[in-house]
Amino acid sequence: MSERKKITIRSLFEKLNAGEPISWLTCYDYPTAYLQEEAGVDMILVGDSLGMTMLGYDTTLPVTMEDMIRHTQAVRRGAPTAFLIGDMPYMSYQPSNETAIRNAGRFMAEAGCDAIKLEGGEEMAERIHAIVSAGILAAGHLGLTPQSVSALGGYRVQGRGAMQARKILTDAKALEEAGAFCILLEMVPDRVTKLITERAMNCIIMSLGSGLDAHGQLLIYHDMFGLYPKFKPRMAKVFGNAGELILKGLTQYVQEVEAKDFPQPQNWFTMKDEDYEELLRLIED
Ligand code: KIV
Repeated sequence: MSERKKITIRSLFEKLNAGEPISWLTCYDYPTAYLQEEAGVDMILVGDSLGMTMLGYDTTLPVTMEDMIRHTQAVRRGAPTAFLIGDMPYMSYQPSNETAIRNAGRFMAEAGCDAIKLEGGEEMAERIHAIVSAGILAAGHLGLTPQSVSALGGYRVQGRGAMQARKILTDAKALEEAGAFCILLEMVPDRVTKLITERAMNCIIMSLGSGLDAHGQLLIYHDMFGLYPKFKPRMAKVFGNAGELILKGLTQYVQEVEAKDFPQPQNWFTMKDEDYEELLRLIED
């Protein structure tokens, strides 16, 4: 297990003030959390993208609070020092401030989160304010917000035109003023990211496919390792093709079982001759 000290909101801002980029990854399970912790990842997001990457849905919309809590608890067990952010699933915060506070509180009390994230701009500032007023750190998410993928017309870059870009800037300001400690920009042009980062006063701006001029980067773990077969967005650099490696191993397993090449004596357990003979005597009666 890693020996590092717990990453806190304070240590994140120390990094930001020292001009050191912050690393952030999605994670949904214990063994991956263990590896991310060992690798020194600063922040972990248990994203509602788990609906697609782990549960096989076509969108994030069917994901429930129960799904999120179960996976987030597992991630916390594997990554005790990472700054852990729980992603609020569809309709866990949209209906009212009270619903939002209650569900944000569940991430903190039941899953050991350090903060929560929710999607949306100015219209969600009130929710951010309510959650922060309840003593919970809240992150915003602008640009391509997957819970609104239908309204946005698909998985596409947001803010390429000047008017749409200005709206993202206004949204970022509203979220920061409402108390968001962090804003994720997903699939936003790099120049817009730069403007938002330069204007942020007390807020960590993170990029997912939105360029280098943020305070740090987020990637979806399954995209990094070729583990999500359905599509490959442009920002998803493959750092190692684990999907290919696993498929090769699985195919070999099937072949070896069929050819009786697996298992070999070193892979099974034996019994002493005298015990076996006694057993035969016992079952003869
Ligand atoms: O659910 C998730 O993983 C996310 C990312 C797309 C940022 O919200």
